[in-house]
Amino acid sequence: METSCDETSAAVVDETGIRGLAIASQDAHAAFGGVVPEIAAREHIRALDAMVRHAMQEAGVDHEEVAGVGVTAGPGLVGALLVGVNWAKAYAFARKLPLLGVHHMEGHLFGTALEHEAARPPFIGLLVSGGHTLLLEARAWGRYRLLGQTRDDAAGEAFDKVARRLGLPYPGGPHIQRAAEGGAADRFPLPRPMLRGRDRPGDPSYYDMSFSGLKTAVARIAAECEADLEADLTADLVSDLAAGFQEAVVDVLVEKTLRAVERTGCRRVVLGGGVARNSRLRQRLAERLSSSGELYAPSPRLATDNAAMIAAAARHRLANGERSPWSLNADAALVFPGLV
Ligand code: KG4
Ligand code: ZN
Repeated sequence: METSCDETSAAVVDETGIRGLAIASQDAHAAFGGVVPEIAAREHIRALDAMVRHAMQEAGVDHEEVAGVGVTAGPGLVGALLVGVNWAKAYAFARKLPLLGVHHMEGHLFGTALEHEAARPPFIGLLVSGGHTLLLEARAWGRYRLLGQTRDDAAGEAFDKVARRLGLPYPGGPHIQRAAEGGAADRFPLPRPMLRGRDRPGDPSYYDMSFSGLKTAVARIAAECEADLEADLTADLVSDLAAGFQEAVVDVLVEKTLRAVERTGCRRVVLGGGVARNSRLRQRLAERLSSSGELYAPSPRLATDNAAMIAAAARHRLANGERSPWSLNADAALVFPGLV
């Protein structure tokens, strides 16, 4: 079960992989230019039963065959999370099944592993979503060293906010990517935050990221262009700004990831989260890793939020003998599990 943001999703997985997966993306938020928490929770309540039914039908399993119930317990929107957590608790309690709360971002790592047999620890994980940007070293499933994270906006959040400034719809990532095609990425000078050649591995800034200043720089250039034109941005300007922004984000993400590969000697890189859909990011990471490592990236369906990744993480924990207590609660700021 996954209800942390604006996708209502249920899935059935077993040792062979995904047996059934249903995802309802809430489009009720588009008109507001971002996710409205209250609407998200209400939409989850409306959709979740049907998603579970669809996933089970697709899997061809009935209730008796279910061995455990996994659910995203955080991080995310608390009202949205509560819908899934309470649904999962009620179902597990009624059917006397083990309950497993899953961290959403750890779920994203399992999402990629569902599609790539070799995406197993040890690996460097780059998790880039709408709410989080994390670079970590996975030593084993459930044992992670956090290398770096964003100090302000998440990568996806920056895509969404820049898209909004450029007049593109929500969610912004795919629209920025499309607008960037054919755009001149080097037309405007944009910063590469936290990317200095003199950074040293012990520095906190060596792996950390920041996208808020970049977002502001795009907004400032957009405002200057609009003032010069005395009109809205032209399609060419939108395209060039989108390309420049995307290239700057990708430069930072690729460089930080390569630093992690070089410093840890860990050659496998597992990409996860909605921004993992970005084709420029995938292309540039694949190029840079072609001689020094291997890149495992999820398909678009498993990159963005889905319950298969949550079920896979829960399956792993269940196999390890783990259980969540009946007091399991939704935690909007749940800490990444297993940090060493
Ligand atoms: O992982 P996800 O589905 O939800 C969260 O856990 O936040 O990620 C959603 C984010 C949004 O910010 C969206 O703009 C971004 O992923 N995204 C993209 C692309 N497709 C989705 N960002 C850049 N390029 C894309 N093609
Ligand atoms: Zn996510």
